[in-house]
Amino acid sequence: MSSTVLLVAGEAYPLVKTGGLADAVTGLVQALEQAGVQVRLLVPAYRGVLEKVRVDTTWPLPDLPQGPARLVAGRCRTTGMSCLLLDHPALFDRPGCYVDENGQDYADNASRFAALAHAAAEVARGLPGLERPTIVHAHDWHAGLVPLLIKAAELPSVKTVLTIHNLAFQGVFDLACIDQLGLPESARHAEGLYAWDRLNFLQAGILHADRVTTVSHTYAREILTPEFGCGLEGALRYRGEALVALPNGIDDELWNPATNVHLQPNGFSASNLGNKARWKEHIQRAFGLTVDPGALLVVSCCRLTEQKMTDLTVEALPRALAEHPRLQFALLGKGDRRFEEAFTRIAAEHPGRCGVRIGYDEPTAHRLQAGADMLWHPSRFEPFGLTPLYSMRYGTLPIVTAVGGLADSIKDPGSHAGEAAMMRANGLFLEHHDVDGVVAVLARALQLRSREAVWRAMRRNAMNGAYGWNQRVTSYLDLFETLSGDGVLRDPSGTRSRTQVPPSAASA
Ligand code: ADP
Ligand code: GLC
Repeated sequence: MSSTVLLVAGEAYPLVKTGGLADAVTGLVQALEQAGVQVRLLVPAYRGVLEKVRVDTTWPLPDLPQGPARLVAGRCRTTGMSCLLLDHPALFDRPGCYVDENGQDYADNASRFAALAHAAAEVARGLPGLERPTIVHAHDWHAGLVPLLIKAAELPSVKTVLTIHNLAFQGVFDLACIDQLGLPESARHAEGLYAWDRLNFLQAGILHADRVTTVSHTYAREILTPEFGCGLEGALRYRGEALVALPNGIDDELWNPATNVHLQPNGFSASNLGNKARWKEHIQRAFGLTVDPGALLVVSCCRLTEQKMTDLTVEALPRALAEHPRLQFALLGKGDRRFEEAFTRIAAEHPGRCGVRIGYDEPTAHRLQAGADMLWHPSRFEPFGLTPLYSMRYGTLPIVTAVGGLADSIKDPGSHAGEAAMMRANGLFLEHHDVDGVVAVLARALQLRSREAVWRAMRRNAMNGAYGWNQRVTSYLDLFETLSGDGVLRDPSGTRSRTQVPPSAASA
């Protein structure tokens, strides 16, 4: 009998995406499938998602505490990924996933994502004709109640894993909500769902999962400290050896500049960069910048939030543009209204030098990365940081802060390093997190770019790095096998290496 892994998440590319969570979840599903694992992905059927799936089977879920729903099994029409959708129109047929058109959280988010967890528990208990999972893998707070519900269902053959992609989002709600969630009595105390007189979905997941993982080694250490733990450092420390770091990979087929569909017919590669210059010109035109092959084109593509230091970027950009006449800046982003307005204003004040597009647009994200010289991507905290790895694949050197996954993946020996050391770098660190620091790192970038051999070496290091899921999935396979005990995972070729489960965060 073969066993199955059920992943439960709030989003998964290309069905629905608001950020890196969607990419990471789908990347893992595909990598597990390629490794021969039977895997199912459960996400809510938000508006428009059902149409992206070729439906095979449906099951009624008449007894969900949040009202009757349907479970729909099918395959993503574009990628073939096998998925389960929780179809509950009253909860999910809305314009946004988590927030409304004004950026406000939906008032019933507690009920919406409790329903997702109940649906996962139903699958774990068993539905006719649907294979029962041996591992249920919950992602972020949206699936935080899954481990608690599965434990309460007393299913000893089902083990749970919670992966933290971002500890800053915890799913915190008023205590009064608990009556609508259909939870067992065990949820009503501090070892359950209560934290500081509120409900906390992520804490519930941390306390009840058989293993808790997070997406980079440095972040796994950081979240045990008050500075990065967002109040949950105590709960994480309490889990001790159950907390492990399993770094993400990237989809290096999708983010391949030679073959990506949005770059055709002008793809490029590390050994043939010719078309990258074309994309630079394209971006300069598309963003209203002066067409100048010699300008240093720095781009940004991210959620406009304080996590991504957007406040500092907005403050520093006018001075950086004034002090560095060869600098151009193009931004694609969406988020906090005050930042959207500030960027629009800066672009209007710097015609030809700064171009801004407020919105979310996947094809433009690829083209921006393809055309840029550098990616501007500083973060106050960064659990993993997919975007700088994407930029490196596209020969665009990232400027980041040395936190979380960025500290693990970006190599910069520092501003005092000589040329020989810089030949081994693949990006730059923003060393001082203030306006002077921004101006200084851009000065450094301009200087490095003028040393052709160093720049070429850095770009080669970036493009040739191995960031794909096939390198990273083994740690997940080992963890799942350890948890499930007996050969849950099929490995027909028998070639997959069996490494140890990665060291716990505490000892990493
Ligand atoms: P986070 O998950 O914290 O937002 P990541 O860098 O891990 O950060 O992932 C962000 C993902 O969202 C990347 O795939 C990036 O290309 C994408 N993205 C962010 N903002 C936009 C946007 N405005 N348009 C298109 N894609 C975007
Ligand atoms: C989160 C994090 C980001 C990470 C992504 C995928 O949204 O903010 O750092 O890359 O999840 O794990």
